[in-house]
Amino acid sequence: MDQRETWKTRAGFFLAAVGSAVGLGNIWRFPYMVSEHGGAAFVLIYVGMMLLVGIPVMVAELHIGRSTRKSPVAALVAKGGPSLGLLGGLFVLTGFVILAYYSVIAGWCLRYLLDSFSGASLHESGAYFERIATGKDALLFHAVFMGMTIAVVACGVTAGIERCVKLMIPLLFLLLGGMGVWALFLPGAAGGYAYYLKPSMEELLSLDTLSAAAGHTFFSLSLGMGVMITYASYLEQKESLLKDAAVISFADFGVAFFAGLVVFPIVFALGIQDKVGESTVGTLFIAIPEAFAKVGGAGKLLSFAFFLLLVMAALTSAISILEVVAAALMDSLGLKRIAATLLAGLAITLLGVASAFSLDVLSVSDAVAGTVLLIVGGLMISVLVGWFDQTVRDELSAEGKGVTLFLLISLRVVAPLLLFLVLSDAGPKAVEAVLGLLR
Ligand code: TRP
Repeated sequence: MDQRETWKTRAGFFLAAVGSAVGLGNIWRFPYMVSEHGGAAFVLIYVGMMLLVGIPVMVAELHIGRSTRKSPVAALVAKGGPSLGLLGGLFVLTGFVILAYYSVIAGWCLRYLLDSFSGASLHESGAYFERIATGKDALLFHAVFMGMTIAVVACGVTAGIERCVKLMIPLLFLLLGGMGVWALFLPGAAGGYAYYLKPSMEELLSLDTLSAAAGHTFFSLSLGMGVMITYASYLEQKESLLKDAAVISFADFGVAFFAGLVVFPIVFALGIQDKVGESTVGTLFIAIPEAFAKVGGAGKLLSFAFFLLLVMAALTSAISILEVVAAALMDSLGLKRIAATLLAGLAITLLGVASAFSLDVLSVSDAVAGTVLLIVGGLMISVLVGWFDQTVRDELSAEGKGVTLFLLISLRVVAPLLLFLVLSDAGPKAVEAVLGLLR
């Protein structure tokens, strides 16, 4: 592929990578994980995971992409021979499954966004959620969201993805900032902050929390399925990959952390923290609109802003996943971009039908593809780059000795051991969940 596309500007690459990382994972999944896994303990472990494992694996993925300038399947074959094509295939499969349910959730957001105008989503939000979360309505909005995603990716790296993120990411930061200021003045804010920021020691030490945090690190940073490989394959410049990885990761964590500062005061202002304690995928979709309904006239506006934020965050993430699958089809089947994008997009839309009709399928897909398969992918990447890729040393040599040593130790020892430990917990659980679904 000699006329491979490249980012028009470096900022374009950054915004695209941050756009991929910042998504439903930050605003919906992070607070939901925090409330399921002991509040602040989860936040702390998450940060540890991000520093010890997330950033090194991101450097490894960026390195694979930039040094081969190929999409994941071809890049891995170039690095380690044909058998690694299987790992690339696993990436594509993972992306396939993740986007299929991700888009259903994004469809809910789109639905909430439109219903903000009439205020329909603000009344009896529990019943409203039940009505729209599954069935024909869910399917319709899932399909619309996939259509938007396909449209962006079909336009290409610069004309589609880069243009979309340059518009949406700044707007997203602005909206989130505004919501944070609003939440600060809610009556229950202090209780919310306390729950969010004071860790409980028991949770801090459990393997369950550790594996949830590891899975979420990969999900939130878009690691373990080749997004960063693909995006870096459109890079030309030779600048520090570590700096890139650090900036992307901290921007992502910043947004998740800030989203928590919005969500927890809301939850506590409403006094529904117990409900959130045993939270399910839908809890935030019920709690947040309930809070908006209470503020009266401004509620519609707040609802509009919040769900616009979610839709934009979801879109800039969804395009990165579709790009992986489409790029793989382009590189390996020689399809044109439009054909590859349509083919991949339609197949994913079809697979999403299952999640649009069953919340159980949706949660199990998240546990399997959105957690376990990403960890498997991350484990393989760290071993591959840490132990078998000689070029990574040259790449890192500009970073200084200490940093290089840290990255190599992480990729060779820390990340594989931690991820292996986590898989021993999360793997069997995921298998059980799938079996439960089939029963
Ligand atoms: N990181 C995104 C989020 O937090 C989701 C996402 C985009 C993703 N690309 C990915 C998750 C690749 C896993 C793998 O919402």
